[in-house]
Amino acid sequence: MYKIALIGAGNVAWHLSRALEMVGHRITEVHSRQIANAQLLVKQLYDATPTQQLNLLDTEADLVLIAVPDKAISEVVEKLQVPADVVVAHTSGTQSIDLLAKFGDKAAVFYPLQTFTKTKQVDFTQVPICIEAKSEAALDILGDIATSLSEEVYQLTSAQRQVLHLSAVVACNFANHLWAISKEILDQADMDFDLLHPLIVETTEKALQMPPKDAQTGPAKRGDKEVIQKHLELLKEMPHYQKIYQLLTESIVSMHQA
Ligand SMILES: NC(=O)c1ccc[n+]([C@@H]2O[C@H](COP(=O)([O-])OP(=O)(O)OC[C@H]3O[C@@H](n4cnc5c(N)ncnc54)[C@H](OP(=O)(O)O)[C@@H]3O)[C@@H](O)[C@H]2O)c1
Repeated sequence: MYKIALIGAGNVAWHLSRALEMVGHRITEVHSRQIANAQLLVKQLYDATPTQQLNLLDTEADLVLIAVPDKAISEVVEKLQVPADVVVAHTSGTQSIDLLAKFGDKAAVFYPLQTFTKTKQVDFTQVPICIEAKSEAALDILGDIATSLSEEVYQLTSAQRQVLHLSAVVACNFANHLWAISKEILDQADMDFDLLHPLIVETTEKALQMPPKDAQTGPAKRGDKEVIQKHLELLKEMPHYQKIYQLLTESIVSMHQA
């Protein structure tokens, strides 16, 4: 069992802190600039203290996890004070471990590769956790904690993690954005997005069963210029989405010509 302090009370902190306690660890402190956010999360935890302080020199934690937006990590690092033997890790997919250079061989990364939103439950046993550390001792602690949560633990360098995050943004954030656009298109015609649910499920399942390139269907793959033209006309009141349609069509055509 490890004691862990959390900086941040957002999406990642919300899921991670509760999952960590479920497998037997204890959250000692939750930091948030707006104390109400930390208080709300602490209510879900065993005996954590909400705090607005980044002076954690009195903490009993073995590990401090920084789960704040990427652009805020440096500011937090600058103000954060912890005892010399405490491991400090951020949870970002893109930021280098070197952002935590101030903590010397106690610097680390604990990146859970999943999309987290407070209102949606996540099964942590299936979440790949990517770890990196500046010393074997810090890596051992992160490895213990990661394997207590998940069956999928990977040791990656900062450079590998950045590439993984790039690919994850395309697979998750971009795919989700396209679903949001398709919902808007249906909304404008007073039709229900639920109609697309079986298609989205089947598309996702297929992309996991075979190489996604082999699973491609549709007018761009078939080179059906007439249908493509019709769709572009239907999108003429939505020029931004028309541009996205055109770009993706060109990308599919060129991938399947190769
Ligand atoms: N969401 C995901 O799906 C996901 C998945 C994997 C990794 N990550 C990574 O995990 C980290 C946290 O992401 P998140 O989605 O949990 O972020 P988030 O939901 O936006 O939460 C951010 C938290 O940080 C605090 N905060 C914001 N700016 C701050 C600052 N300048 N100084 C101190 N605290 C600040 C906020 O609370 P106050 O405003 O009250 O301070 C809030 O509690 C990021 O590095 C992200 O890349 C996210």
